[in-house]
Formats: sequence, structure tokens, C-alpha cells
Amino acid sequence: MNNFIFHSPTKFVFGKDTEKEVGQLLKSQKAKKVLIHYGTGSIKRSGLFDRVVKSIEEAGIEHVELGGVVPNPRDTLVYEGIELCKKENVDFVLAVGGGSTIDSAKAIAAGAKYEGDFWDFYARKAQMEDALKIGVILTIPAAGSEGSQSAVITKTDGMLKRGLNSPFYRPQFSIINPELTYTLPTYQTSAGVVDMMGHIFERYLTKSENTLFIDRLAEGTLVSIIEAGKKLMDEPTNYDARAIICWAGTIAHNGFFGVGRVEDWASHGLEHELSALYDVTHGAGLSVIYPAYMKYTLEEDIEKYKRFAIKVFGVDSTNKTDMQIALEGISELESFYEEMGMPTRFEGIGAKEEDIDKLVNKLQENAGKTFGNFKKLTMEDAKKIYELACA
Ligand code: NZQ
Ligand code: ZN
Repeated sequence: MNNFIFHSPTKFVFGKDTEKEVGQLLKSQKAKKVLIHYGTGSIKRSGLFDRVVKSIEEAGIEHVELGGVVPNPRDTLVYEGIELCKKENVDFVLAVGGGSTIDSAKAIAAGAKYEGDFWDFYARKAQMEDALKIGVILTIPAAGSEGSQSAVITKTDGMLKRGLNSPFYRPQFSIINPELTYTLPTYQTSAGVVDMMGHIFERYLTKSENTLFIDRLAEGTLVSIIEAGKKLMDEPTNYDARAIICWAGTIAHNGFFGVGRVEDWASHGLEHELSALYDVTHGAGLSVIYPAYMKYTLEEDIEKYKRFAIKVFGVDSTNKTDMQIALEGISELESFYEEMGMPTRFEGIGAKEEDIDKLVNKLQENAGKTFGNFKKLTMEDAKKIYELACA
């Protein structure tokens, strides 16, 4: 196990009706004027918006609102949010929604405390030194942004999708009520499951040594996500299954599974180019990438892939070679994605083989000549993985 620092300062408030506590939580943060940031309407249709406003007003806190965040959130709305915060003297940004809304809120919080263009942070031209405080009410377990130090924004000009990590991006609090996720379309529930599993894969696949303790916890978490995910296909209002998915999604990406090891993140890099070019749901892009990535990197650590097959999918190892067992694990993963209604090939997300060069060029712009840590990938490797994802 490598040396590490793990600092996850977010207060998580979990369970039924917890959104009603938002006013008091904001008060404890000494918030005076809050920006309520949200997406394209689900929180208004469900009545959540009204409950949030009531709780904030009862706590005697002022608010302004800005909706309209789209999946793969854009810089254009971030600029609008920054202007609004500066004009209205907002001192706290509350995201009510999923990863896209939370990420947009994080970028607004950073930009509101910066004189220049917030994109400077994403272009690595400036270092964030301050940000408004951020709070979250989560409505979709997926991206893990409610506990992460990251925010991914798409620059509309050129459709550049870029991620950024900063300690200022850790929310002060995140409210997670599994009941708020009952209204999710099945596709979004499934995409969320794929994404949170991916956040574990990015840490599980490592060249660091002596990682067995966290690996076992990761395998157990993956088993629980798979079980609960399957249950939700038939019972979308099963509270316990929703609760497992919600909490698993948060710990999958708050850094816990990454301690003591070098993380990978190659598959996320490959996927971000898909969602930038085709504007596909992040989880759907990932279910296309992971089987291809895993097949391509199989020989990096057959033992690990064999372990994954046996521990996560219960593959029977009798009379099989290590390679056969490992391949069976990847094939089980693909079958699970399919059972969840997720695509596993380019055509399932409307991606085209003839665009591969374009994807690779954009990837190089973002990542440089090599990327990933489990296997250091070149652009030639990236091309081959995209090709495998077409086959
Ligand atoms: O816009 P609304 O009306 O809210 O609808 C959303 C949206 O259409 C809908 N939705 C959310 N909660 C709902 C609901 N519909 C009904 N009932 C509810 N309770 O679901 C759709 C997807 O929402 P979105 O916020 O885009 O989902 P997700 O959480 O998957 O976020 C995806 C974004 O997060 C980024 C992705 O790249 C993508 O841009 N990521 C962020 C990370 C981070 N900050 O740490 C890490 C991830 O790896 C990921 O890259
Ligand atoms: Zn992700």
C-alpha cells in the first residue's frame, strides 16, 4: 500500500425526507444568499424544487435560481451563473440534481471568486485559489460528484470536454434521499450503475502492489451494485436497492477506493471524447468502452482479471485456463450491461468507426501523447481500443 492522504470533508446527510434539512444545513454554513442551480425540469415536475425553497425560506436565507443545466454541462451556462452570483452577491451555490448540475455549480462557485475566465482553470492556465461554498441535493446516483473533488465541463466552442480536480470542489454537505431517485428513467438508472462501477474499475485496475484490502472492499461493493441494479430493473421503487446504489455511487468516487495506489482513468479519458463528439450519456459511453479496454489490457495482469471474474461474477474456474476465466469475467460484465439495457458497441450510441481518427486527435489534445496508468496507452493503443469497441 502506497502512502496516502484521504480527506473527504463533505457532510453526507442520507435518508428519507432529508432534503427538508437543507435550510438548517445552509444556516450552519452561515449562508446568506444562495444560488439554487438545477437541470431541465425534473426537480420542478417532482415537487422537489418547492420543498427546497420552502426549507430555505423557513431558515431565513435569501435565494436566486438558475436552471437549464443539460447533461454534459456547458460553459455557456457557467458564465451566466458566475455573472448572476457576482451581481447578486451570492455566497453559497446549492446544486439540486445530478452530476451535470453539480459540476456546473462547482464551476460557477470557482468562477464567482475569480476575476479572469473560469476556463483558465480547465485550460491549466491558472490555479484555483478560492471558490464559493457548495452544497448538493442529489437526484441521480451516478457521477459521484456529490463527494468528489472533480467537475467536468464542456466548452461549447469546439465541444471540448475537460475535467478538473480541486479541493475547493468538495461540497460542504450532500443530501442523499434515495426516494428522490424513484422518478429516474430506467436508462439513467442503468447509466448511473455503469458509471459508479467504472469509478471503482479505474482504481481497481492498478499496477500498485499490496492492494488486496481495498480490492476486496471494491469487489464486495461491485457485487452489491450489480445485485441492486438488477433489482431496480423490476422494482424501481425498491427503497433498499435505491439506497445501496446511492451510497455505493458516492463512495465509488469520493477517493476511498483509490487510497494507497496509482489510479488509472484511461477508460474515462476514452469515453469523454465520445460524449464530447456525440453528446451521449456518460454511462452509456462507458459501457461501450470498458469491455474493449479490458480485453485490450487483459495481458497486463491476467491474475487480476481472473480474480475479478471469480469474485465479482462468480465465474466457475474448474478446468479452465486463467485466460479463459479472465475472458469469461469480461463477457459477464458485457452481459450485465446488456441486461441493464446499456449499449456495448459503437453503433449502440450512434458512434461511427470512420470518426476514430477524429476521436484520437481530440484525445491527444486533451491528454497528451500517453495516458492511463494501468497500461500506459499511446494514441495507437487508443485507436485499437476504439476499434475493438466497434467489433
Ligand atoms: O435535467 P434534469 O431535468 O435534472 O434531468 C436529468 C438529466 O436529463 C435526469 N434526472 C436527474 N435526476 C432525475 C432525473 N430525471 C428524473 N428524476 C430524477 N430524480 O437525468 C439526466 C442525467 O442527469 P446528469 O446530471 O447528466 O447525470 P449524471 O449524474 O450521470 O452526470 C453526468 C455528468 O457527470 C460527469 C459526466 O461526464 C457527465 O457530464 N462526471 C462527473 C464526475 C465528477 N464530477 O466527479 C465524474 C464522472 O466520471 C463523470 O465524468
Ligand atoms: Zn464517470
